[in-house]
Amino acid sequence: MKIVIIGGSGLIGSKLVINLRHRGHEVLAASPDSGGNTITGEGLAEALAGAEVVVDVSNSSRATTR
Ligand SMILES: NC(=O)c1ccc[n+]([C@@H]2O[C@H](COP(=O)([O-])OP(=O)(O)OC[C@H]3O[C@@H](n4cnc5c(N)ncnc54)[C@H](OP(=O)(O)O)[C@@H]3O)[C@@H](O)[C@H]2O)c1
Repeated sequence: MKIVIIGGSGLIGSKLVINLRHRGHEVLAASPDSGGNTITGEGLAEALAGAEVVVDVSNSSRATTR
């Protein structure tokens, strides 16, 4: 199952990515730096393509300065 973690590079998200990968899931960590900005939409469609589950653990307050 492909699972997208919005904010997957963050403190919480990175732990979630590791845990889900340990359980054998295909996990994509999405963030503005890696592609997948929930404020601007940049890279979001590509990141979400084929995903069955999306988990949003982003901290959007930093995104407005990008
Ligand atoms: N840490 C805690 O103890 C704690 C406790 C309770 C609740 N929370 C909540 O959990 C969430 C995550 O916290 P955290 O401590 O893991 O935050 P963090 O370390 O600051 O990580 C934030 C993540 O959100 C991403 N992000 C920022 N703007 C985004 C956008 N527009 N689109 C997509 N991703 C975006 C960041 O990407 P970049 O790396 O590219 O900037 C990063 O991956 C927050 O909502 C926070 O309020 C955290």
